[in-house]
Amino acid sequence: MAGLGSDPEGTYMHGPVLHVTGARPNFPKAAPVIRGLDALGIDQVLVHTGQHYDDKMSEVFFRELDLPRPDLNLGVGSASHATQTAKLMVELESVLTDRAPSLVVVYGDVNSTVAAALVAAKLEQPLAHVEAGLRSFDLSMPEEINRMVTDRLSALLLCTSPDAIAHLAREGADPDSIHLVGNPMIDTLLGSLDRFDVDRARSEHDLDGPYAVATLHRPGNVDDPGDVAALVRAMHAVADQVPVVLPLHPRGWERLRGAGLFDHPGMRIVDPLGYLDFMGLVRGADLVVTDSGGVQEETTVLGVPCLTLRPNTERPVTITHGTNQLVTRETLAEVTAATLAVGRPQTWPTPPLWDGKAGDRVAGVISGFLREK
Ligand code: UD1
Ligand code: UDP
Repeated sequence: MAGLGSDPEGTYMHGPVLHVTGARPNFPKAAPVIRGLDALGIDQVLVHTGQHYDDKMSEVFFRELDLPRPDLNLGVGSASHATQTAKLMVELESVLTDRAPSLVVVYGDVNSTVAAALVAAKLEQPLAHVEAGLRSFDLSMPEEINRMVTDRLSALLLCTSPDAIAHLAREGADPDSIHLVGNPMIDTLLGSLDRFDVDRARSEHDLDGPYAVATLHRPGNVDDPGDVAALVRAMHAVADQVPVVLPLHPRGWERLRGAGLFDHPGMRIVDPLGYLDFMGLVRGADLVVTDSGGVQEETTVLGVPCLTLRPNTERPVTITHGTNQLVTRETLAEVTAATLAVGRPQTWPTPPLWDGKAGDRVAGVISGFLREK
């Protein structure tokens, strides 16, 4: 991808802008930022760490979204947190040293994000964090640790919602480093709307009436063998009311199958879906049950009621300005019944600046930063 942009005037700081991506949620966030920077003629390098590697967890996003091929795939793969983060850091240290970027851009809260942040900081390379400042205040989530560390090390804190700004301010971040830019994942959603085909999704999953879509992958839900029986009972209580299509993340697949999740006629468990197929399904759904961060945001914009099976969310804006509500395994069946009875909202608010232009705003902030340097 290097050379996509050109800077004959030498306006910007030397060295490319280097993006570090690696896991499924990174790709729809990076695409609009890369496009925005390309439009400004800024040289870029796209690194894929290989944290996710199955076709439907990675490659499909490069086929379906306007994303250039990665310049490098580090092939890091799966491992425990320490081993995966260590491998990421070793590989990234060599890449960042070699490419000498003027800015490293990281996305969200995955291990690839925090590993890149640590490496960039120790090489004294400036860092921009897209989706800065989100906080669940729950340190049992690995993502919360990743968010806090990454934000602390970032020169540019690019926020998707006003609550994130308040968290960063309270933590003592330099106000000049904080920018409310909107949500690049929503740029991708709005830019792809006419490719989300509800009729096709219905026919592929044999759905002729109301239906729910579910996703489950948080360690807090799927990792503890003692807890999954209750999760399975809660999901079956939803499937008693409405068919549930569940594209199941590989993380919990075996444990949930072993606990009997698949053994209900209303549960339709499928492999992870490509982005367009998944969003086509979500767009037509009467209800979504999830523990995903991104899905809370996407349902908010699509006006699809979202029941988030978690004790907290780092995305409270999807509750105050969207269709999201938190549920427990104990309340899920009852809230499902109430939500299906009310139906989808006719009108609903959306968070400020979730308007499809976040990638351009990020690019504007980055180009200003590079000029100043
Ligand atoms: C990661 C992120 C999480 C994010 C999720 C999005 C961290 C700490 N967690 O969780 O924040 O919400 O991605 O999907 O970075 N696996 C495959 N194929 C793949 C990728 C993973 O089979 O392409 C399986 C492996 O068994 C692996 C497990 O999934 O051990 C977990 O993968 P990992 O990347 O460690 O974490 P996720 O649970 O995917
Ligand atoms: N997604 C997808 N196919 C699926 C499930 C999810 O394309 O089967 C997309 C969807 O856009 C979602 C994004 O992947 O917002 C990231 O999802 P995930 O739940 O894996 O990550 P999180 O946002 O929780 O970190």
